[in-house]
Amino acid sequence: MFNVEMYTGSREENYNLVIKQLHALIHDENNRIANLSNASALLNQFLDRVNWVGFYLMDTNEQLVLGPFQGLPACLRIPLGKGVCGTAALKKETVLVADVHQFPGHIACDAASQSEIVVPLIKNGELIGVLDIDSPEKNRFDALDQQKLEEYVAVLIEQI
Ligand code: SME
Repeated sequence: MFNVEMYTGSREENYNLVIKQLHALIHDENNRIANLSNASALLNQFLDRVNWVGFYLMDTNEQLVLGPFQGLPACLRIPLGKGVCGTAALKKETVLVADVHQFPGHIACDAASQSEIVVPLIKNGELIGVLDIDSPEKNRFDALDQQKLEEYVAVLIEQI
């Protein structure tokens, strides 16, 4: 059903298509694990030059815990305020890191990662978790990625 050959438009058009595909995949389902699993798999086949795509979810004790993802096995728990994920979660805003080696406290789960974007999942003002995407290239993510990934998360939030 999904293959990368359908993404033949501009970057913006391709993002709009994958956001529609996400809606189609999740609109009839309200199980959080199922929808987050498909949301990570869909993004992983859509994005190029990425090595990890997935979610960390709010758990007890002010910690994020690993959720559905695509990539190498990753750190299980990240305290709020720690690393890129914990920073985005604490600030409740997207954090875009051009070079992870320049980000104080970056948590290296996959040594290949060079740049990263983390988008918080906020529903009715409450932090549910974060979407985390890593790339093996520096400067992989720009303002368009941020805008469209925030739209992607906004669609996802409705069904989790
Ligand atoms: N690099 C993240 C940790 C999660 S892994 O990238 C999958 C961070 O600094 O929060």
